[in-house]
Amino acid sequence: MSSSRETDAPGNTAESYLGLINAAGVENSISLDSNSEEAWIDVIQKMDEVYSDLVHYQLELEQKNAALEEAQAFIDSVLTSMTDVLIVCDTRGRIQQANGAFQALSGLSLDALVGSELKQIFAPDSQSFISLLTQTIRDNNMIVDEELLLLNEHGEASPFSMNCSARFDHEGRFVGIVLIGRHLGELRRAYKELDQAHQKLRNTQQQLVFAEKMTALGRLVAGVAHELNNPISFVFGNMHALRRYGDRITKYLRAVDKGGSAEDIGTLRKELKIDRIMEDIGPLVDGTLEGAERVSEIVQELRRFSSVQKETQEPFNIVQVIRTATQWVVKSAASKPKVTYHMPEELDIISRRGPVHQIIVNLIQNAVDVVEKQDQQIIDISCIVTDEMIRIHVKDNGPGIRADAVDRIFEPFYTTKPLGQGTGLGLYISYGLAEELGGNITISNSTEGGAEFILSLPLKS
Ligand SMILES: Nc1ncnc2c1ncn2[C@@H]1O[C@H](COP(=O)(O)OP(=O)(O)OP(=O)(O)O)[C@@H](O)[C@H]1O
Ligand SMILES: [Mg+2]
Repeated sequence: MSSSRETDAPGNTAESYLGLINAAGVENSISLDSNSEEAWIDVIQKMDEVYSDLVHYQLELEQKNAALEEAQAFIDSVLTSMTDVLIVCDTRGRIQQANGAFQALSGLSLDALVGSELKQIFAPDSQSFISLLTQTIRDNNMIVDEELLLLNEHGEASPFSMNCSARFDHEGRFVGIVLIGRHLGELRRAYKELDQAHQKLRNTQQQLVFAEKMTALGRLVAGVAHELNNPISFVFGNMHALRRYGDRITKYLRAVDKGGSAEDIGTLRKELKIDRIMEDIGPLVDGTLEGAERVSEIVQELRRFSSVQKETQEPFNIVQVIRTATQWVVKSAASKPKVTYHMPEELDIISRRGPVHQIIVNLIQNAVDVVEKQDQQIIDISCIVTDEMIRIHVKDNGPGIRADAVDRIFEPFYTTKPLGQGTGLGLYISYGLAEELGGNITISNSTEGGAEFILSLPLKS
């Protein structure tokens, strides 16, 4: 046994602890037998273990402290960064915590706020609500949303949208309430901004619809001109005939005025074919009027089509709208597809004529575009009336809808047409219009090839 090695460093051996004891001055008087030596070694080992445990606990404690400080710093930073006010109170309505936003509003420090009554921070108008708040939340375990008036640092009432909810401890006991509030001025400003953004979006959308309509109109010009040309040339022809008839009647009447013999007048009457003129004049005027009416209808239709105004619901013959829209498109097309109709002469619905016309134009335009490359170009239009709805089927013998287009066909700007030939807005806008009218558009590929678009509209919307 060594006698006097002194050390107090941790992790000493049993011997060195004995040395320590020895250093205390008892070495010479103790003579250890082997049993007591073992006992000492045990004691020293235990002390060693206790010491290392202590070191371990100390380390753990330091780590926990650091984590706690970090968590506290995190909570503090959140509370400080919050622009909404946050107030926490106990079950008796005494403030326990308030964030920076509320301290700034009230002009009071946290120390001044803690322990004060919740009622003190609200304006008189909100007092009755506050006095019932704790009770209400405790009894009904509910979240309360209310507009309340908080007092600012000058004692003025400031409107806040407050959300008040119950707070529970780790054992689920009700321990108070948490109030979070946003200044209503800010909220209103946010709403206003949202509203403005929404309005802007709606305007852009309307401009988009209008631009698409104008593009469609541009493509339709040739067809419309063709449509106008018929009645106009008809009116022109009739007017020339009427002028000739007028000249002859004038000549005849002058002769009658001059007072020639009855025989001469009779001969002139025959020569000038006055009797035929008399028979012809009625139908000629009727025909002219009809032509002028047709021109006026086309112009009205055009005006309706290009109008930005939202027209009101009215009864109209949808078959006529389908025919007009189809003729405009087909007559504007470079190729002339064969169009077959399966629909009655007349079918009245109550809807908005302009949008219906626009949808049909878009569907027929697409059909005309896809059949362009086919040897035989066929477009079939049929109408089916079911219950309260009318279904207009537009079928073509084109290549059909591409598999990758099926899910995207109604998306804005989706187009498979070459640049400059399609904006990809036609179906997107048509779908929106159909929905606005209380209907919809569905698509499918028919088994014989080609696509089929079905526009469903309520007979009365
Ligand atoms: N009858 C059809 N058959 C096959 N594909 C079609 C048919 N109609 C539309 N599509 C596909 O849907 C796409 C989108 O059509 P949509 O009418 O929205 O735009 P677009 O015709 O390309 O351009 P526009 O804005 O000029 O109408 C087309 O590019 C085409 O790929
Ligand atoms: Mg189109």
